[in-house]
Amino acid sequence: MAPHSIMSSRTFFVGGNWKMNGDKKSLGDLITTLNTASLHDETEVVCGAPTVYLDFARSNLDARIGVAAQNCYKVAKGAFTGEISPAMIKDCGVEWVILGHSERRHVFGESDELIGQKVAHALESDLGVIACIGEKLEEREAGTTEDVVYAQTQAIADNVKDWSKVVLAYEPVWAIGTGKTASPEQAQEVHEKLREWIRANVSEAVADSVRIIYGGSVTGANCKELGSQNDVDGFLVGGASLKPEFVDIINARA
Ligand code: PGA
Repeated sequence: MAPHSIMSSRTFFVGGNWKMNGDKKSLGDLITTLNTASLHDETEVVCGAPTVYLDFARSNLDARIGVAAQNCYKVAKGAFTGEISPAMIKDCGVEWVILGHSERRHVFGESDELIGQKVAHALESDLGVIACIGEKLEEREAGTTEDVVYAQTQAIADNVKDWSKVVLAYEPVWAIGTGKTASPEQAQEVHEKLREWIRANVSEAVADSVRIIYGGSVTGANCKELGSQNDVDGFLVGGASLKPEFVDIINARA
């Protein structure tokens, strides 16, 4: 199949990850900007809101824009102080959850095993999952990027039955929040390898259809070139998703 037809069969996906930022005033202003903006209608858009603002975000964002939680636990309910479940996320009308984000892995110590269990339960609960993977700088410098991202992807893949509800986010840790974006060639190289890994270890059909999105210092200025790579099917955007510039990133393929 020609690269172009592979590219065009996957709907471009742009996620915003607000992380632990904003308040009702600033997020309300951002929501108004997004609701009134002209957004490329062939791009799927999802905003990752802090837990306490999930209901607020879902109630105020246009229906054409999805909402994601930034984390959830691996069971539906119980004595797990401070945690939230996929059932609660769904009860707020929210459709997605981000799992395995680098900050969950490296600030809060989440293991591949726990992330896999969370992925399984979120999918069983009918949430879409934005599953994040990515190597640290020392791993890249040691030449182990592939080993790291394949192992992380394996722990996710072991827990996925229906890949239509999964978006894989490749986010090199050294590029997150640092202003050091991966070059389009670096991103494409890893995305292509991940797709080949999925072809070999999951299936041909999933390799062709799964969206592999890039995250790490994506901006309005670099999104078009990154988004023009054959295996880059969208972005997960942190800092720039809190600014009006997010509209330009959504429209990268317009
Ligand atoms: P960044 O964050 O765009 O601020 O680098 C990306 C992410 O953590 O998802």
